[in-house]
Amino acid sequence: MKLLITGASGLLGINLAMEAMREHEVIGVDRGRLQSAPFPVIKTNFFNSRAFDPALDSIQPDWVINCAALANLDECEKHPGQARILNTDLPRELATACATRNIKFIHLSTDAVFDGEKTDAYTEDDEPNPLGVYSQTKLAGERAVQSANPDAIIARVNFFGWSLTNRRSLGEFFVNNLSEGKNVSGFTDVIFCPMWVNHLAQTLVAMLEKNLSGLYHVLGAQPMSKYQFGVEIARTFGLREELISPRSVLSSDLTARRSPSLWLSTHKLSTDLGREIPRFSTGLAGFYTQYQQGYPQKIRGYQQ
Ligand SMILES: NC(=O)c1ccc[n+]([C@@H]2O[C@H](COP(=O)([O-])OP(=O)(O)OC[C@H]3O[C@@H](n4cnc5c(N)ncnc54)[C@H](OP(=O)(O)O)[C@@H]3O)[C@@H](O)[C@H]2O)c1
Repeated sequence: MKLLITGASGLLGINLAMEAMREHEVIGVDRGRLQSAPFPVIKTNFFNSRAFDPALDSIQPDWVINCAALANLDECEKHPGQARILNTDLPRELATACATRNIKFIHLSTDAVFDGEKTDAYTEDDEPNPLGVYSQTKLAGERAVQSANPDAIIARVNFFGWSLTNRRSLGEFFVNNLSEGKNVSGFTDVIFCPMWVNHLAQTLVAMLEKNLSGLYHVLGAQPMSKYQFGVEIARTFGLREELISPRSVLSSDLTARRSPSLWLSTHKLSTDLGREIPRFSTGLAGFYTQYQQGYPQKIRGYQQ
């Protein structure tokens, strides 16, 4: 299959491209960061150009996965207009262009569409209540995609892995700081369900191969606090877990409000895919193996 990936230089985009190109033809779209990727890249800045019709007509992909976003919560609070363009308008326009051509489309959304007040796991039937600009624009993007392209897959995700900038995931944050012997905080009152980005990439491709449609929670099946996540990373990488101070998010200086409990059920996904969600421990082992094998340096070499 021919797969077009927007945001190919991002944390998900680059790892998805590397994973998918084992079995499929991959074409990336980025705004200039990628210089020597092992797949063709089209350079486009979505603030300047979102003319998708001619591009899709000439490339003729079977699948499009939209990984482009303004995904930094605090940047979204500072630049709500940019957040709306990337997180709401872009997915709507892409979903529409794919629908008219029968191209299967996946849009990436976020666990943070929920306010995090539920003590049980959120299902796809629960009503979202986004707390900030990022999650509001992402939810508006979900709804725009649903209405423009009912056949699309909308995946609410949360993941960790290696990125081109070495600072796009929480996993990298803990590895980098603990490796340098720095003290860091780990929030004990923010719960999430992290999935290794390669497991996410494999799952997205499996969803396409199974021709699923609609809204899915595509993240890890094991909820944990950000503090616990840091401790697990430290133990796996042989780093000093005592450098991580358990702390409340309420005492942090983060701009955007964080939802306290983003425990999302993956029951619908595992049922429809007919397989178990990969275990967190397996993903963490994969993340460590990549580190040992020099994968972070390898992908960083793809940028200028
Ligand atoms: N990371 C997580 O755990 C997480 C959690 C929930 C949801 N998500 C969602 O998952 C998706 C992927 O996230 P990510 O962590 O991979 O994000 P990311 O690393 O920030 O990547 C975003 C991508 O969008 C590109 N982009 C930004 N502005 C652009 C523009 N004006 N024109 C063209 N491209 C532009 C970036 O290019 P540059 O490299 O040039 O900046 C990058 O390739 C997003 O939809 C995000 O909302 C992520």
